[in-house]
Parts: sequence; structure tokens; C-alpha cells
Amino acid sequence: MTAIRGATTVNSDTPEEIKAAVKELLCAIREKNNLSSENIICIMFSSTGDIRSFYPAKAAREAGFDGCALFSSLEPPIQGALPLCIRVMVLCHGKFKAEHVYLRGAKRLRRDITSNLVVALDGPAGSGKSTAAKALAKHFNILYLDTGAMYRACALKCLNSGISPEDGKAVANMVKNIDLKIEYSEGKQVTVLDGKDVSLDIRKPEISDMASKVSANSAVREKMVQMQRKIASSMPCVLDGRDIGTNVLPDAEYKFYITASSGVRAMRRFAEEKAKGYDIDIKKVEADIIARDKRDSEREIAPLRMAEDAILVDTSDMTEQQVVEFLVNKIQEKV
Ligand code: DC
Repeated sequence: MTAIRGATTVNSDTPEEIKAAVKELLCAIREKNNLSSENIICIMFSSTGDIRSFYPAKAAREAGFDGCALFSSLEPPIQGALPLCIRVMVLCHGKFKAEHVYLRGAKRLRRDITSNLVVALDGPAGSGKSTAAKALAKHFNILYLDTGAMYRACALKCLNSGISPEDGKAVANMVKNIDLKIEYSEGKQVTVLDGKDVSLDIRKPEISDMASKVSANSAVREKMVQMQRKIASSMPCVLDGRDIGTNVLPDAEYKFYITASSGVRAMRRFAEEKAKGYDIDIKKVEADIIARDKRDSEREIAPLRMAEDAILVDTSDMTEQQVVEFLVNKIQEKV
């Protein structure tokens, strides 16, 4: 579904003016967005309180926009609002880049943030970035792409094929023909390798270490980054990983670097793995995390690093909810 916004104004509150302005606005929206009447799900108007003589929804029906649900409401008085203004939101089938239409001096109230929102979240293992990314995606109702899952799937493929993650040539050969797909089921990412859902298999502790190793391979990175950019260009989304803000999407408008002390991160991972039934030792978890951070930040290609224009968020003393609130506020501040 796509939401198209628009607004227009009238010189005086008369039925003739309202009918003409609404018709002009809707025709312009239809033309600029190449819409047919079957595309339109509904049209919703809100107008300033000084527009009383005619319902914009009725004007829309009279103008021939009668094959969809129509709705009008009056806005409460807002200081500084443009007088005699009619705003509209047209909901359409399909996903496309909306062309918003503002006529007769009407201005956008604020940017429609979710229509092109791309958020890059980077940080080390256990920093809380994937929990925050999921919650953020849910908040804005946009897609979440866990890029680590893709490197994990490459590691699993190595494991299944008896390839050492350190054998650069064999890994590059393997990734050339890898059958990896990212799908979504009930809003959740499903990682499909060779036609099989491996979303759980890739979470095994031994895969974490292997994923860190295969992710240093240039052929692997090239292929995964290409897939990630393709997904990110098709819809608004939140991506989490190690190199999203620095390499995958350097132009992303919203970049965060999520971190926490290694002790806190180890505690979080330990609790997660325990909950999954893995019998592990906290000391080993912390040692693994430190080794993985070192490898991820010291590798030659696209190492884990904070982008210069990213906002640093240290989650050591923050609850999950506090992290999400912080990110949402920062995004909304910029709008
Ligand atoms: O976030 P994670 O623990 O699931 O990631 C697994 C490994 O994949 C991580 O150690 C480094 C690598 N990775 C990467 O190099 N670049 C990304 N964008 C995401 C993950």
C-alpha cells in the first residue's frame, strides 16, 4: 500500500471554490502518480475549521472519485496553520514512490518519514542492535533486515559443504552459486538456504565464529552487500550489521552506532543462549565476543567502525525500551 499526500487552499469558503480546488488536487494526484480508479483504496480529507460550506469528500464524489471510500474531517485550530486549507491522504494499492501534490500555496505539514525511511544500525555483537532494529521497524511499520543472518547463512553453507571458513578460494567459489533468499513470513525475516528455512540453524554458537570469519572474504561481502542494497532500495527499512552506515548505505539519513561494554554484551548473549537451551560458560561467551569484535573491526574490507555521521548510543545502562525511545526521538527530531 502507498500513501500519497496533498493539500490545497481556497480563497473563500464557498461550495464552488471547494469543489474546484478538490477536483484540481485529486486530478493532479491521479495524473502525477499514474493512478486508475481501481488503484485507489480510499481518500481522506482534513480541512481547517474555516471550511464549512461543503464537504471535500462530497466534492470528490462529484468530481468522479466515487469508486472508493471517502472521508472528511475538520482539524482542530493549530497556531500558525495556513487558513482555508484542505489536506488529503490517498491510499493506493501497490508499493511505489509517491508523488505528493501541494497546490495554491499549501505546504507540507511535515515530511512523510516512512515513505523513504532507511535506518542504518551498526555495532558489535550483543550491543542490543537487533532488538532495537526490530522494535524500530515495528514502530514505523517498515521492513527489518538482519544482515548478520546472511553472513551466518554463508557460514552454515561452508559447514554443510565441509569448507573451512579460512579457505578464501573455496569460500569465494561457494558464494558464487549460493542459493540464499531472504523472505518474510508474518513480518519476520526467514533465511532460506538451498530451499530450506535455516533461521534457527544459523543461531548456533559455533556459527557465530564461522560467520565472523567468512564475512572477511571479499567475494562473500560483495555478494551480500549487493543483495542488501537491492532489498534496501525497494522499500523503507531498518538494516543492522557492522558496515551498513559506512559501506552498504553510506547515504542513509539515519545512522546509529549501538554499543555496550563487553561485560554487558557477554551477559546479554549468555542469557539469550541459555534461554535457547545451549549450555555455555559466561567467561567463554565474553572471550568469544572480544575475539569476534577484534576480527570484525580489524579485517581489511568494510571493518566494524562507526560512520562519521552516525549517532553513538551506549546501551550498557539502558533498557530495551529506552533504546527504542531514544532512536525514535532522534529520527523524529530530524523530520
Ligand atoms: O550480527 P551477527 O552476530 O548475526 O553477525 C554475524 C557475523 O557477520 C559478525 O561477526 C560479522 C558479520 N557481519 C558483517 O561482517 N557485516 C554485517 N553487516 C553483518 C554481520
